[in-house]
Formats: sequence, C-alpha cells, structure tokens
Amino acid sequence: MELLRETSQRAIRYLEHLNQRGVAPTRENVAGLERLGMELPDNPTDPMDVIRELDEVVSPATMAMAGPRFFGFVIGGSLPATLAANWLAGAWDQNTAFYDITPGTARLEEIALTWLIDLFKLPQQSGGAFVTSDTLANFSALAAARHEVLRQLGWNVESDGLIGAPKLQLVVGAEAHPSLFKSLGLLGLGRNKVTRVPVDDQGRMRADALPALSRSTIICTQAGNVNTGSFDPIEEICGRAHEVGAWVHVDGAFGLWASAAPSKAYLTEGVEEADSWATDAHKWLNVPYDSGLAFVRNGDALRSAMAISAEYLPASKAHRDPSEYTPELSRRARGVEVWAALRSLGRSGLADLIERTCRYAKRFAEGLTEAGYEVLNDVVLNQVLVSFGDAHTTRKIIAELQADGTCWCGVTVWQGHTAMRISVSSWATKDEDVERSLKEMLRIAAKYGKR
Ligand SMILES: Cc1ncc(COP(=O)(O)O)c(C=O)c1O
Repeated sequence: MELLRETSQRAIRYLEHLNQRGVAPTRENVAGLERLGMELPDNPTDPMDVIRELDEVVSPATMAMAGPRFFGFVIGGSLPATLAANWLAGAWDQNTAFYDITPGTARLEEIALTWLIDLFKLPQQSGGAFVTSDTLANFSALAAARHEVLRQLGWNVESDGLIGAPKLQLVVGAEAHPSLFKSLGLLGLGRNKVTRVPVDDQGRMRADALPALSRSTIICTQAGNVNTGSFDPIEEICGRAHEVGAWVHVDGAFGLWASAAPSKAYLTEGVEEADSWATDAHKWLNVPYDSGLAFVRNGDALRSAMAISAEYLPASKAHRDPSEYTPELSRRARGVEVWAALRSLGRSGLADLIERTCRYAKRFAEGLTEAGYEVLNDVVLNQVLVSFGDAHTTRKIIAELQADGTCWCGVTVWQGHTAMRISVSSWATKDEDVERSLKEMLRIAAKYGKR
C-alpha cells in the first residue's frame, strides 16, 4: 500500500510539473534512458526502488503529451476522471472478455456503447467493439464488412479463408489514412489492391469520381482528414453505394466526435447512413492510451467475424460478451475510461471540449495568417496546416520550435506542400497556452523573414 501511495504522489508531481517543463524531452534526458539498459538482473529489486528509478529516469524522458501545449498528431491528454478511472481499473485487473466472469466492467462497456451510439446518432441496434486503436477499429469493422459482403456472395470467409473467394472491390479516397491500408493488408485484402478515388483541394473524396460499384464493393470513407480535418461527402456516397448493395465504412478516427458539438455537427450529417464506423477514444475523448471503437450497423456481422466458442469459455445468455466483438480474447477493460469520460463530461462538457479546441485551431490560423504566413487548409475542425515559405524554411522553423519546448507541432507534406501541422485535441489547453504558443511560433518564424 505504501508503494501505491508513493507512486500516486509521484504521478501527481509529474502532472503538476508538466506546465513548467519543455514539451519535448531534452537530449540529455533521453540519453539518460541508457541507465536502464543493463543486463537482465539476476536478483529481485525492491519495488519502491523500481518505481523510483522509473520516475527519476523515464519521467523526464517523456514527451509532455498529457500537458496543454502538445499539438502533434491528434493527441488529447487524459481527462482527470479517465486517468483516475484507469488507476482504479488497474487495481481491479479485470480480464473483460465475458460478462459472467467480469460483470462490472462488461456492463460498463455495454452502457458506454449505448451512450456512444446515441451520441453519434448511429442505428440503435449497432454492434460495437472496444479495441486498442483506430487501426484496430478499422480492422474490426472491415472484418465485419468482409464477412457480410462475402456471405451475401455465398462464401464463408471465417471458415474458408480468402483463397478461392469471390473477388471484392475495395474503394478508398486518395487521402485515406495510411493505417487504413495496414488494416486492409491484415485482412488479406491487400494494401495496394484498392481503387483510389481522386480528392478535391481539401482532401475530400470526389463522389463524382467514384468507379462503378456493385454488391462486391466495400467503400472506405473518411470523417476527418488527418491533415485538413475535412470530411468526405459520406451521405452522397452512401446513396450511390446502397443503390447497388455496396458496403460503406467510415474512418472517423477523430472526426466522428464533431457530432457532439452543435457548431460542428453539420460535418457529420448523413454519416449514420453508413454500414460501419471506426473512431478513437484516445484522441478527442481524451481517455488514456490505448482506446479505439468500432461500430457496425449489423452487429451480427461483427460477431460472426470475431466470436469463438469452446467448452471452457462461458457465454452469457442475457448480456453482451465483450470479446465476441473484438480481435482479442483476453483484454483490458477499456470501457471503464470511456464511461468515465462520458459520465464526467456529459453532453455539454463534451460539446465544450470539441468547440473549444476547434476555436483554438481557428485562433492559431488567424494569428498565423495575420502575420503573413499561409494557412493551407480550410480550418473546419481542429487541424491547421501552415507553411512558412519553402520546404526547407518550414522544416527549420518546426525543428526550432520543437527544440524550444514551449509547444510541439509536427511536420507534414500535404498535396505537395511542406507544412506544420497544429492539432488541438486536449481538454488541458487553455487560451493562455494558445497565445503563448502562437507568440513563440511567430518569434521563431520571424527570424527566418516573412513570406
Ligand atoms: C483518419 C485516421 N485514421 C486512422 C488513424 C490511426 O489511428 P490509431 O493511431 O489510433 O490507430 C488516424 C490517426 O491519426 C487518423 O487520423
């Protein structure tokens, strides 16, 4: 118990110090990690010393992703209620595979799933899976798509595999996230055996450029482009696809959460027409890593793709067994933090989180534009792409900003332009963090001359 008390104190000190330290770890702190690279010890070490060593060596070598000024990738720090729930769930140590064995955490998942379906306005009977990431959420939803589309063509892919199966047509937008191709590869559908649909100047799939579709088609659309935040015309695509019985999947890793915010919900209109959806809770819902979510209109298709049975495994008659919907059998209780996030925020708190972070993205875009730099995208959500001139200059400014430590933004190349990506996704970010970060961006950029 003393160890756990001491550890919680260390964790609290870490979080309290985040605002004072540089966002990226220093080179010296990263080099310090080598102190841990010893041979596997022969003998035990006191757990108190193990934790002390972890905190002293690794805490300073972390990236301050939990802090208010990390704007890389699409990363939200853990909401207080979700981190605390994570600690409690860690103590529970529930292998949340079967309701009858772990009813508490399995029931929380069921409740969180109902809330999420309501929040995203998805069909009420949809099935869902709590998985590790959006990559695995895409994988799971597309496994359901593969099952159902092939079943309708008279083939059982789970029992007979893909060799000799009817051919499927995979359609994706030219700016689909790279991890989507990985999911397709893992499903045996091939990373490259896809028809890529051209996109417009915001990275949206062009519905007018769709190929001929059929009931063998699975179309992977996107709600929230990782560079621009833009949405494919999903409603229109669903209309075209469903005329011929094709399956529409939505990768909404972060974009799906726009439906929770009144001023952004227009972006997700019609998304509910699709057949399956994937999103992340570890992005905009701000729960601890790792946490992804898959939803499938035809829950039986997801279950058929994932469920197994064995004499020694229990099966609940009255309740949902979480592992019947996921690639994993043994699994941690991810629903606990999702439930805690939704319970602590409520609809209005979640709306505020999404609205506020989008407002901050707009503020960054305005400040940079006013100073004469080019914002490349329409800032419709929480993503900003800014060019500071040529690729070399832009990269130098980003590197200097990262080394400076006030905030952290990444680099991207989008539609041929090298740019800095600013993604505002954390509950912890406040007005002063945005102003302080903007000031630093402009100070560093000014050293290289205005565009
Ligand atoms: C649109 C989209 N799809 C998929 C992913 C991959 O998500 P994850 O890292 O949770 O697997 C991302 C990550 O940013 C994304 O933006």
